Amino acid sequence: MGGASRYAGGDGRRLSEADTWLVEAGRRRAWTHGIVNPPLYRASTVLYETIAAMDAANRDVDANLYYGRKGTPTTWALREALTGLEPGAEGTMLMPSGVSAITAAILSCAKAGDHVLLPDSAYDPTSAFADGLMRRFGIEPQWYDPLIGAGVAGLFRANTAALLLESPGSLTFEVQDVPAMAAVAREAGVVTILDNTWATSLYFQGIRHGCDLVMQACTKYVVGHSDSMLGSVTANAARWRDLQKTVWQLGLCVGADDAALGLRGLRTMGVRLARHQESGLKVARWLAAHPLVDRVLHPALESCPGHALWRRDFSGASGLFGVVLKAGSRADAAHLCDGMRHFGLGFSWGGYESLMIPCSPERLRRVTRWQAPGLCLRLHVGLEDVGDLIADLEAGLARFAAAVGGS
Ligand SMILES: Cc1ncc(COP(=O)(O)O)c(C=O)c1O
Repeated sequence: MGGASRYAGGDGRRLSEADTWLVEAGRRRAWTHGIVNPPLYRASTVLYETIAAMDAANRDVDANLYYGRKGTPTTWALREALTGLEPGAEGTMLMPSGVSAITAAILSCAKAGDHVLLPDSAYDPTSAFADGLMRRFGIEPQWYDPLIGAGVAGLFRANTAALLLESPGSLTFEVQDVPAMAAVAREAGVVTILDNTWATSLYFQGIRHGCDLVMQACTKYVVGHSDSMLGSVTANAARWRDLQKTVWQLGLCVGADDAALGLRGLRTMGVRLARHQESGLKVARWLAAHPLVDRVLHPALESCPGHALWRRDFSGASGLFGVVLKAGSRADAAHLCDGMRHFGLGFSWGGYESLMIPCSPERLRRVTRWQAPGLCLRLHVGLEDVGDLIADLEAGLARFAAAVGGS
């Protein structure tokens, strides 16, 4: 897929060019037949007229219909579109969820006897995989302080195969020094894997910043409408073949409907993200000034650990952030969350709708301590009117204060 991308190998691309790419990517005439959206190819079996045609298709399954699991123009179009958003990338593989993208990325570079580093702020199922299947297959996980920076080199061993990065971290939103960490990893021959779901490749380009594998839970902003599960891993040239082989051997693939929903979402991701950013910041600033709020964990606010790195490396912020209250605990969450009118109570994020969940980051920590004086929430600010969202939070915080106190 590498040569197919207009942007592969490029650098320093302006965001406006990415906006054009989002609209036009993957719309090759051979795939679309002139229709604006690539058609949905629902396929398992492909019929050949001759043995010669069957053998020819097998020689390059990224360009020829061979068998459903290996892809169709619907999935090729999405893969090409995602590859083009990461300057310097060689190709992208699709998976049926964000979690399967993470596990496939790890399995593409680690084997029994290896050591893998992951941040203490990693998405919980990433840590669960490390503690579970990874250990069962003889790969040793080690968690590190997400703010360790280039000091992570001190944790490298002769058998360290991969360094996982997630920036900002799940629930607590620490921004990592990805370029510095990727640089020391490359020097040591350690593969870097970045969970780039929060920023997407629009607001942070992982390959350009030195990462080898950049994964996204496309379920979030790429799909953007909370109606499909989808994951992707984009690789540089050095890691591309191992990634592709691993995904094929695991038998991971996505259906045409999900790929088409991913493509449809991608077309508007730029405008959606801009609105998520604008409204998210308004809500974050409003919350930061509220007497019941201890701190807001938003990479664009100075209260966020690693904020200076966000300013240096990112070109935007999405709509997901955390808020720590001065009082209460997880047990008090219902006073606030149960009566919300616009913020839905539910997992995931990145869709057009606002969501909230209470969380307890301290329970997930293994090597660092995380402390909060009161209830912690994760908010996703959607595309609703921001005044409605603030009014919803104001009423929720008033209910909470009446029941728990704390302001
Ligand atoms: C940072 C991050 N990475 C990965 C995932 C997993 O994505 P999925 O739900 O598509 O498996 C999530 C889901 O919430 C996430 O927040």
